[in-house]
Amino acid sequence: MSTVVVEAISAPQIRSRLFEALDIYVAAMGYPRGTEHHRAPMWAEHILRDGWRAVGAFLTDDPTAPPPSTAPLVGIAYGYRGAAHHWWDQQVRQGLVATGVESAQVETVLGDYFELTELHVHPQAQGRGIGEALLRELLTDRPEQGVLLSTPEVSEEDNRAWHLYRRLGFTDVLRHFVFVGDHRPFAVLGHALPLDGTAPAGHS
Ligand SMILES: CC(C)(COP(=O)(O)OP(=O)(O)OC[C@H]1O[C@@H](n2cnc3c(N)ncnc32)[C@H](O)[C@@H]1OP(=O)(O)O)[C@@H](O)C(=O)NCCC(=O)NCCS
Repeated sequence: MSTVVVEAISAPQIRSRLFEALDIYVAAMGYPRGTEHHRAPMWAEHILRDGWRAVGAFLTDDPTAPPPSTAPLVGIAYGYRGAAHHWWDQQVRQGLVATGVESAQVETVLGDYFELTELHVHPQAQGRGIGEALLRELLTDRPEQGVLLSTPEVSEEDNRAWHLYRRLGFTDVLRHFVFVGDHRPFAVLGHALPLDGTAPAGHS
């Protein structure tokens, strides 16, 4: 019987399986088919960023051995070291300033963090702890002081992403924030690293 193993994915591996990973993203987010073609160049560029790391959840028949390179993917997560020249960082910085956060505090929040950019589990594999396993593996032994992510606001914080982040202790950095080019409000959430540690100043 197949089981799921969470493992690091190298840059060459993800390049060769980019559209398989993007299919999971499109299915998990419920986006229209074709979205993957818009996202592919972005994901490919992200691989080149400082501190990039990815993990995958693979279906395999032997959980004691590394999954074969052909093992089907059912989940994907990646991120990289946040940097002031990144668009996402600049957006969050502006959002914090606009809400009256002092510049010293902004530096505390954005000074040294890992940006969790994508985390997706195929809908047929959700609700089995795979999302949590991906997140924990991705954030193991990171050199940064904290992790930041953005996720769409949903009523009552009632979806699997929110449940997962809250269960792991992620706290609010910015709420109801609208990124340039997107009409949806997002929350930016943060957590100190390692994950089981306490939240740093600014991640209140
Ligand atoms: C968010 C997401 C990555 C979480 O992945 P997941 O594998 O479904 O997450 P988990 O299984 O770890 O947690 C989901 C639920 O399964 C439950 N669960 C955890 N371990 C379990 C296990 N071993 N057996 C059964 N259920 C389990 C959890 O309690 C949790 O329940 P809850 O949502 O009611 O709180 C996934 O649901 C997803 O891809 N969602 C759509 C895309 C998305 O929103 N991505 C994040 C954007 S920021």
